[in-house]
Amino acid sequence: MNFRTIIEPFRIKSVESIKFTTREERERALREAGHNVFLLHAEDVLIDLLTDSGTGAMSAAQWGALMQGDESYAGSRSFYRFRDVVQALTGFRHIIPTHQGRAAERILFHTVLEAGQIVPSNNHFDTTRANIEVEGAEARDLVIAEGRVPAARHRFKGNVDLEALEGLLAAHGARVPLVMVTITNNSGGGQPVSLANLRGLRAICDRYAKPLILDACRFAENAYFIKLREDGQQDRTPREIAREVFSLADGCTMSAKKDGLANIGGFLALNNDNWAERARNLLILTEGFPTYGGLAGYDLEAIARGLEEVVEEPYLRYRLRSTEYLGDKLTAAGVPIIQPPGGHAIYLDARALLPQVPPLAYPGIALLNALYVEAGIRGVEIGTVMFGQHPDGTEAPAAMDLVRLAIPRRVYTQSHIDYVAEAVIHVASRREQLSGYRIVKGARVLRHFTATFEPLAADSSTGT
Ligand code: F0G
Repeated sequence: MNFRTIIEPFRIKSVESIKFTTREERERALREAGHNVFLLHAEDVLIDLLTDSGTGAMSAAQWGALMQGDESYAGSRSFYRFRDVVQALTGFRHIIPTHQGRAAERILFHTVLEAGQIVPSNNHFDTTRANIEVEGAEARDLVIAEGRVPAARHRFKGNVDLEALEGLLAAHGARVPLVMVTITNNSGGGQPVSLANLRGLRAICDRYAKPLILDACRFAENAYFIKLREDGQQDRTPREIAREVFSLADGCTMSAKKDGLANIGGFLALNNDNWAERARNLLILTEGFPTYGGLAGYDLEAIARGLEEVVEEPYLRYRLRSTEYLGDKLTAAGVPIIQPPGGHAIYLDARALLPQVPPLAYPGIALLNALYVEAGIRGVEIGTVMFGQHPDGTEAPAAMDLVRLAIPRRVYTQSHIDYVAEAVIHVASRREQLSGYRIVKGARVLRHFTATFEPLAADSSTGT
């Protein structure tokens, strides 16, 4: 069949009602949440685009697999099924389950990092950065120049600047214990990394004898971008492409809450026997025995099945198209977004949309909160609140001030997305009326989760 309409490649057999609220109810809920959408009751949100992490709908086959869970403390059948699926996909020798991605990060970095070291990547995600910094090391972002300019178009905007990486290794190689790369590049807009760039990274890592570790949360979306956009890749399956990507690395951290199509879970995969042994010992201390790593047997079953479903082509075609569909509508209406649309989310350029709100008055928060009050939609700020605070306590504008609208997997239909587009365009049309915020109370690490805010009066938002 050659029809052009790309449809949801599933039918729905179980539904969950969403709650409609009035504008007054939303204003009150936001006030009570300290103007931080993380602190809302999720029930008061109509369309929740806070994250694509753990929020996906599982398939009937995954729900069925839950009943196959073997809850044995050690050596569970579910672990071996999970391990075999991950190994067949990634080819890595040691597969260490964890309760989610950041646990894999913490265990990896606590095992291998020393204070004063540097870990380069395209862009580190916030939990990755925090887990590096907590070890006294530095997380350095080396994405290509286009990756830092929201409006710049590039087919692989998540690529690492290979020259900059080579420069870093030539000057400070002894301080770099490993090289990372995030696929897709979440903090840079959900943008893909090309196979050519990954091969280039491998060659540099070989020259300097450095392990290459993938942050593989969205490996399947990245593989499909490669298939769509990279010369010579059109005839390969997403799974074959993913296999090659993994084969270029020495290990990965993974959050199964994204491309594992599960509600919880993750893993650390490594080829290095020594690192793996030390990681397993740390795992026992904080996560659990190495055959469950903080997960139930049924979680391992759901992930094993999810990793098979996520590389299916009809799914990936729908997945990337549904994100692009929202991006196309906003672009046609002149709303500034990171171009081109990423895999899992649309990133609104709040700094460009709200020039009257300076970065230290948090334009991302201003836009985010307006979207909630106007339409009951929840997104997340990726900007100065998330990245502007440095370990020494000082604050500076982040590279970009974005609002991310992340799309949960297999959850919302095209009409939900039409509603989101209409709401964003409405808020953008009255952008002059939005003003900034100040932080009333904020933690020293990962403050965006718990900070509380106060709106600045419209006429004082141009100051600081
Ligand atoms: N790496 C990337 C690129 C991520 O996007 C995330 C999570 C993690 C690591 C950590 O994984 O949540 O399982 O501990 N990102 C979510 C998000 C939270 O909303 O983008 P986790």
